[in-house]
Amino acid sequence: MAKLALLQLLPIFLTVQVVLVLAEAEHSEHSNHNGLGPERLTRLHFFFHDFVSGKNPSAIRVASAPTTDHSPSLFGLVMMADDPLTQGPEPTSKPVGRAHGIYGSASKEELGLIMAMSYCFTDGVYNGSTLSVMGLNSAAHPVREMPIVGGTGVFRFARGVAVAKTYWLNLTSGDAIVEYNVTVIHH
Ligand SMILES: *[C@@H]1O[C@H](CO)[C@@H](O)[C@H](O)[C@H]1NC(C)=O
Ligand SMILES: *[C@@H]1O[C@H](CO)[C@@H](O)[C@H](O)[C@H]1NC(C)=O
Ligand SMILES: *[C@@H]1O[C@H](CO)[C@@H](O)[C@H](O)[C@H]1NC(C)=O
Repeated sequence: MAKLALLQLLPIFLTVQVVLVLAEAEHSEHSNHNGLGPERLTRLHFFFHDFVSGKNPSAIRVASAPTTDHSPSLFGLVMMADDPLTQGPEPTSKPVGRAHGIYGSASKEELGLIMAMSYCFTDGVYNGSTLSVMGLNSAAHPVREMPIVGGTGVFRFARGVAVAKTYWLNLTSGDAIVEYNVTVIHH
């Protein structure tokens, strides 16, 4: 009895499968018609200004654990940032965008910042386009890598990597200027 019921169900199951395959094929065709053009590779170079001290900080503390300030890596600290991105290293250099998002200390051993940030560009052809950075920033290392997991505008369907290098750091205040080389593949 059970075997028979299964056999009767089989044609229905097959029909559903075929419909799903057709729907997928149609979807990918639509994507092509919608202008998902060839893959492109773009390299970006800019400086990131993270100012946590002074009257007008670009990153502010929004949460922490009772133990955070006793931790050598500030474990548990959560910051909200709206950090300027500029062409050159000076804070007065030409603005090219802003990095909006959250970073927090997610490592107990050494300083490791988990980044969940949207790099929003305003310069030239990149104006209005964004890149999403999501990953650990081993900020104590002079050079580190972070994954680019997506993008919008000219950076639609982006994936890539950001190489970051501390350009300037005030150890007392924690203010920092970081040089970025971003390599991204997008459509
Ligand atoms: C970027 O685009 C916005 C909105 O279209 C515009 O107001 C702004 O002037 C543009 N900025 C630059 C630097 O081109
Ligand atoms: C970025 O690339 C330039 C040119 O290759 C190089 O001089 C610079 O050191 C690089 N910086 C980073 C952070 O990778
Ligand atoms: C570093 O930060 C401290 C504390 O905010 C400040 O007093 C000092 O002037 C800063 N040093 C530099 C070189 O900016």
